[in-house]
Amino acid sequence: MDASQAPARLVQTPAPSSHWGLDLTAPEFLADPYPAYRRLLREFPVCRDEPSNTWFVSRHADVHTLLRDPRLSSDQLDIYMERLPAEEQAAAAPLRDVLTHRLLLTDNPTHHRIRGLIQQAFTPRRIEAMRPIIQETIDDLLDRVESAGRTDLIGAFADPLPSRIIAGMLGLPPEERGRYKTWTDDIYAFMGLSAAPVGERARQATASVRQLTAHLGDVFAAVRRQPRDDLLSALVAAREQEDRLTETELFSNVVGLINGSHETTTNLIGNTVLTLLQNPEQRERLAAEPGLLANAVEEGLRYESPIQMISRRAREDVRIGAVTVQRGERVAFLLGAANRDPEVFPEPDRFDVTRPEIKHLAFGGGPHFCIGAALGRLEGQLAIETVFRRFPRLRLAKAEVCWRPYPVFRGLRALPVEWA
Ligand code: HEM
Repeated sequence: MDASQAPARLVQTPAPSSHWGLDLTAPEFLADPYPAYRRLLREFPVCRDEPSNTWFVSRHADVHTLLRDPRLSSDQLDIYMERLPAEEQAAAAPLRDVLTHRLLLTDNPTHHRIRGLIQQAFTPRRIEAMRPIIQETIDDLLDRVESAGRTDLIGAFADPLPSRIIAGMLGLPPEERGRYKTWTDDIYAFMGLSAAPVGERARQATASVRQLTAHLGDVFAAVRRQPRDDLLSALVAAREQEDRLTETELFSNVVGLINGSHETTTNLIGNTVLTLLQNPEQRERLAAEPGLLANAVEEGLRYESPIQMISRRAREDVRIGAVTVQRGERVAFLLGAANRDPEVFPEPDRFDVTRPEIKHLAFGGGPHFCIGAALGRLEGQLAIETVFRRFPRLRLAKAEVCWRPYPVFRGLRALPVEWA
């Protein structure tokens, strides 16, 4: 079924999303969004939230089709910037410059061009070459907590792992890696990952952009003088060839790669460890059949998708089933709902490491399909395998888990575990 055929109910009257069971900020929703998603999938697969001028699309077939529709644009920087008063927008110009060329926020032909150049550097071979380094980093992080017999697996492991890997891959100086994470987190926070007031976030992000660009400028210059065998040198080299990344495109997308890899991979690891601990028969099945590891990680991506929602803006009127999305309106794709669509996944609320053909949308789809999917999968697989192999008695230290309060991401604040 494609989007034009999809039956959909139109919410015609001004309706806050709570009208059809979706209050994105409600603690119950953040703790467990799946009852609300089930209702949307069944009754309101395409519906509009009046106050935010946003359409929510939940069915797998619609999300899959619409992510490939060029009438829906990723160029949404104005939406972020317009939240600021005019004088603050001027002050945030360096921030706008850095975000303007970011893959995630560009459309074709610019997107195709920049993505092609980045892919010259960010190759499957380079990612596969990271395998021993990822394994070493995993073992190092687990060595530090082993004798304690208990830890918070997010703070001690799932959070630091991806930032150490991407920083190492880029060849950023080890002593500066903490600062890079803080700077790039500040930029991310401006885009919505924080409850702080938007003006404050913009000021903080702009200050971090200034420091980061000064710092990265020095690193780029050093790499140009003396190229190394790392991702950053390869990105700079791609820039030196006939068609090349401009200096700002380089800045934007190095920051994009750092941001893109952090929260997502942390959530994949945390959510999948939690789900395996909550489903002991699946954990035993995986232990008995290690060949299921890759499939178990795909099922983890489907079952508790690290990114629950991505969005686009309509460049022109777009018909979806019975409704018309008007030019300028936002469309939010509920990946977490689409990945539990019973039309595609039988018994969608069952976590099953043997589930065949898991065509999930956790990495998005179409031209913006996650460029780091292979790296995220590799880190996820090595992390899950190592944690359960090294700590066969691993168990939850608390029955209650606490999810982070962001509807866009699904990830744990902490994952207290013990294994002694
Ligand atoms: C399990 C881990 C990951 C998940 C679930 C994930 C998810 C996603 C999703 C859903 C998108 C599409 C966004 C959209 O269409 O609006 C995306 C794009 C992207 N991801 Fe990932 N990601 C993961 C890991 C990574 C890693 C490790 C990196 C970097 C090394 C990365 C970098 C990016 C970038 C740069 C984009 C933008 C691609 C484009 O616009 O062409 N991601 N990711």
